[in-house]
Amino acid sequence: MLGKIAVIGTGNIGAVLVQELARRQLAGTVAAVDVKEPDVAKGKCLDISEGRPLIHSDVKLVGSREFDIIAGADMVINTAGVPRTKRPDGSIPSREELLTVNLKITDTVAGAIKEYCPEAMVISIANPLDAIVYRLYQQLSPLKSRLVGMAGQLDSTRYRFFVAEAAGVSVENVEAMVLGGHGDSMVPIRSACRIAGLPVTHFISEEVLAQIEARTRKAGGEVVGLLGSGSAFVSPAWSALEMAEAIIFDKKKIIPASALLDGEFGVSGLFVGVPVLFGKGGVEKVVEFELTDEEKENFQRSIASVQKTVDEVKAMG
Ligand code: LAC
Repeated sequence: MLGKIAVIGTGNIGAVLVQELARRQLAGTVAAVDVKEPDVAKGKCLDISEGRPLIHSDVKLVGSREFDIIAGADMVINTAGVPRTKRPDGSIPSREELLTVNLKITDTVAGAIKEYCPEAMVISIANPLDAIVYRLYQQLSPLKSRLVGMAGQLDSTRYRFFVAEAAGVSVENVEAMVLGGHGDSMVPIRSACRIAGLPVTHFISEEVLAQIEARTRKAGGEVVGLLGSGSAFVSPAWSALEMAEAIIFDKKKIIPASALLDGEFGVSGLFVGVPVLFGKGGVEKVVEFELTDEEKENFQRSIASVQKTVDEVKAMG
């Protein structure tokens, strides 16, 4: 159990995080901050606190509109930003289209982390994922191993779910990995997908797998289209908690996540989704392995798309 975990933003993802942090008792105190009026973070914390007797949890939940509430946090989970929303014509914007508005919010968040808990481990969820993590890095460096983005865990979990459904097996039997940027060019790694230890192609045809991979790449947008306003929130929150628990319990667990690369997979100076070994030091290691030629090509394409958005971040100063 940590002393204090801060949740920035108590929209849909933030609220699930606060609930789950209380239920799983991952910290003595959970401090939630949201600038939304009248006092949304406080209201959500009060609601969940009033239910705490039912989940046998003595975790203290405090909410505020002011950032000083995160002072001394050991870990920050950042959800601050606007989510995607379906347009009136029914089309779904890309995550990259959120850049300008969410970058401003990220700068405020970075300033607060710097002021109130500069040593905290930071897991960021806001979109466009890899570019927002890069921005936090620009503002907070040298937090290299203590700053990471949550995306690969979510994308891989979605891939696992789709594969399990198609094969008619338990989700627990499926192992999968999705790497690259958290955009429509993300790369499901078919060669790393296994069902009960056997290659996925033993159970599912190449044609169906290609459909599953295409659906995985667009899975976030599929949920946005169904919800109408806002994006997926339960699976993203659970995915971030998977990473938080690996760090808190020093699990040495390998989870795909957006980490700063320094030559691994031939990439330097960018945050992109790669397999990361998580332990109490945060990002303890990036696990490199050989991709197939096709996966390599798709990975390069995905990196180019992250680079483009990061160049926009740099141009914005
Ligand atoms: C998604 C958002 C959270 O993929 O990026 O659903």
